[in-house]
Formats: sequence, C-alpha cells, structure tokens
Amino acid sequence: MAHLDDHGHASAQVFDRSGKARWTTGAGDLDSHYQAPSATFELWVFLLARDSFTGRSATISEVRKWLEQVGGVHLYHRGLRVRPYGDEGHDWLDMNLRRARSPELRPSTNTSVGRVTVLDASGELLQRTDRTGFIENEAFRDLRRFAVEALEWMQARRLDEREARRAEERRQSEERAEKADRSLKQEIDKLEPGAQRAVTQAADEVASAHASERDLLREDLKVYKTLASVGTAVSVFAHEIDGPASDLTTSVQAVERRAQKALAAKYATTMASQIEAVKRSATLVARFATLPLGMLKKSKRRRTLVDANEAIRDTLALLRPYLDDARVEVDCDLSDDDPHVHGSVADIEAIMSNLLTNAVKAFRTRDAGLRDRVVAVRSSVAEGRVLIGVLDNGPGIRPQFANRLWLPGITSDENGTGLGLTIVRDTVADLDGEARAIAQGELGGAEFIIDLPVAGSPR
Ligand SMILES: Nc1ncnc2c1ncn2[C@@H]1O[C@H](COP(=O)(O)OP(=O)(O)O)[C@@H](O)[C@H]1O
Ligand SMILES: [Mg+2]
Repeated sequence: MAHLDDHGHASAQVFDRSGKARWTTGAGDLDSHYQAPSATFELWVFLLARDSFTGRSATISEVRKWLEQVGGVHLYHRGLRVRPYGDEGHDWLDMNLRRARSPELRPSTNTSVGRVTVLDASGELLQRTDRTGFIENEAFRDLRRFAVEALEWMQARRLDEREARRAEERRQSEERAEKADRSLKQEIDKLEPGAQRAVTQAADEVASAHASERDLLREDLKVYKTLASVGTAVSVFAHEIDGPASDLTTSVQAVERRAQKALAAKYATTMASQIEAVKRSATLVARFATLPLGMLKKSKRRRTLVDANEAIRDTLALLRPYLDDARVEVDCDLSDDDPHVHGSVADIEAIMSNLLTNAVKAFRTRDAGLRDRVVAVRSSVAEGRVLIGVLDNGPGIRPQFANRLWLPGITSDENGTGLGLTIVRDTVADLDGEARAIAQGELGGAEFIIDLPVAGSPR
C-alpha cells in the first residue's frame, strides 16, 4: 500500500497476508517531490507456489486463471476506471519488463492485481480527447513514477530479506557439516586401529566424491548465470528495439513514396535499388528484434503436455527469417502420430533453435563449400518414444569435437559460446530423454537425434 500526499510526498508499507506490517518506508526511501495529484496505490501480490496454497479453499490454478483475467494495476480517476491502464497487454507500470530484467521476487501482471486511485480535485490529469487514457504530462508521468518507485522499494526489501535468509541458511549448513564431521571422527576413534584406517579412507573418498560433484554443479551454475544475464539483456534489447524497428519500416516506405513522386521516371535508375535494400534490412531488423520476445512468452515455460510437432513447427516459423536469410531449405517431415511429451513449449524451442542455429553456422564455415543448403527436420514414433532428427548437408562435426560436443565452452566458432549443445543436453535430460550426435549423418553433415518418452506410454 503506497500513498502520495498533497505535497508530493510518498510513503509505503508492505503487509503479509495476516495483515501485519512487514516493512514501512523511512525518510528518504521514496521521493518527496512528486508533481502529481495525491493518490493511493494498492497491490496484492500472490506467491504462486504450491506450498503457499496448502489448506486454502482456492487452488493455485484457480488463482492463476483469475489473475489472467484481472491481473495488472488498474487506474481509477474520481471513482471511475480509466482504460486502458491495466487492460490485458497494457502494462503501464512496465511490471513485466522489469520482471524480465530481474525476475527475482518481482510481481508481474500475472501474479498481482492492484489499483491506483486518484481524486485529482484540481484537474491536473487530462484525459485524451479520444478517451484512450491520459495525456502524458508531468502530473501523469509523476503519478506513474510514484507507483513504479513504490514497486522498486518493495523489491529492494524483498531482496534484502532473501539475502539475509540465504546467509543464515549457508551458515547453518556449514555448521551442520562441521558437526557431522566431528561426530564421524569421534565414532572412528572408538574403532580398532585396523578398522579406523579403513573407515577413515572410505570417509575421505565419500567426501572427495561429494566435493567434485559440488564443483561440477558450480561450473554448471556459472554457465547458466552467464546465459541468464545474456537472456535478460536480450529481452531488454528486444523491447527497446521493437519501436524503432517498426518506425524504420514506416519511414522508409514514406521515403520511397516521396522519391517515386519527385523523381518520376528517374526513380528506377537512381534510387530504387538502394531503397529496396533499406526496406529489406528494415524488415529483417524488425523480425529479428521480435524473435526473442516470442521465445520469452511466459506461457511457453509452463509444463504441460506439449504437441511435439506443433512446437517444432512453431520454432521453424519463429526462425524463418533467419533460415531464409541464410538461404537454407528446410525439409520438414513430421510424424502423423501426433506425439505429445511432458514438458514445456520452451523446452522444445530451446532444443530446436539451438540445433537449427548450429546447422546454419556450420553452413557458414569455410569447409562448407557452395552446395545448396538443406536441413531436414523429422519426427517419428516407435515403442513409446518420439525421435526428433535434425540433419544437415553441411561439413559435419569435426573429429576433434566429436566426444566433447556437449560440454559447456566447447566450440569451433571463435564467436561461439559452446553453450548451445549443453543446453540441448540438459533440456533433453529434463524431459527424461537422450540426445545423440552423428558426425556425418544421412545427409552428409551433422545429424542430431533427440529421443524422448511419449507422454502416457509406459517407460
Ligand atoms: N550442425 C553442425 N555441424 C557441424 N558441427 C556442429 C554442428 N552443430 C554443432 N557443431 C559443433 O559443435 C560445437 C558446439 O556447439 P554449441 O554447443 O552449440 O556451441 P557453439 O554454437 O557456440 O559453437 C560447434 O562449435 C561445432 O563445432
Ligand atoms: Mg550453438
């Protein structure tokens, strides 16, 4: 709950679900110079985790459905709801963008519902004549800034709290390990000398096996942290570039029309080809810009029954401009059995997009030659498994990479990350499947086979 008073001074409080105040703003936490009419901002944030729903009368999926309908922050002006604020797709506080930038503990329009209420007695907020909300004057901008900064403040408190909890958990688990170690030593001391040596050795082996497992996990974690920051940077880029990219397209169309008019017959010989080139580039920029946005859709990460063929086709459609640009012909032959797997659309998309971009990259290497580029994508069902094949007629996998392909950081590309196939392997493992590679497959180039259990079939 946040308040903005008549003097532009803001304060906020966060309550837990029993209504007890958890945090209250102190001096300097929020600005005291907002140039906006006084307002109240209320937000209910739902912790959509299974364990926060045990023993409650509503189920998590009911609440999710309800939030899909009503989620987001609405704006009430003199008791009346002002559209489009808080309408689906109209995230005026950029909650979803901010969450994409740093997903930790932030509410999104799918996990919260709220309202900003303003009386605006002196009429500082001005409705647009076409009734599509308020004019973006200083009063409106500062009203929004007040709500956004209150959210930021809450986020900071939640992060602090989680940090403190983590530090405490780390301290406790170190303490537990030390205690276990001490009691093991005490027990060993009670043994016969011969048995003491044998047990000490066995205990050391257990400890070092755990240590190396932990090191491996830490390495994996580093890989995923790098990827996470790349991902968030890309999502921000995609949001920011979307507008300029479509402006570019409209502007160049306008230039084309005017140049045709002004130059008449001379247009074709003087400017046409350059304008065509700009138009083509603008289209590509716009398409590529929206590509990550398509992948980021939250619904795609939900684990359900996924129609494998449909997810494959969707990924191909998403990558279409990229494949066309690389002049790759895709030969798609999917099973009529309509296989479904347990997982999320994002899983299949991660697998397919990594394999497809790898094939395109292989075509662009020096060893690839000048043949027509073909990628075959296949799916087939046999004995409760769906096999997805991605094959190309590129140069094939280099022998020195054959065994280590799936490890993080292994790449033959100087601009590569070597993470693509690691992600493929991990994602396939999450789906209880296996991934295999053939250096020179049926089309002469690399062949990748993803082998997944069909949902509903016995293992
Ligand atoms: N379709 C392919 N054809 C030839 N080599 C491939 C193919 N796919 C993957 N590779 C090899 O596997 C390596 C690792 O791939 P990956 O993990 O996706 O990392 P990156 O794409 O960053 O190089 C590539 O650098 C390449 O040498
Ligand atoms: Mg790759």
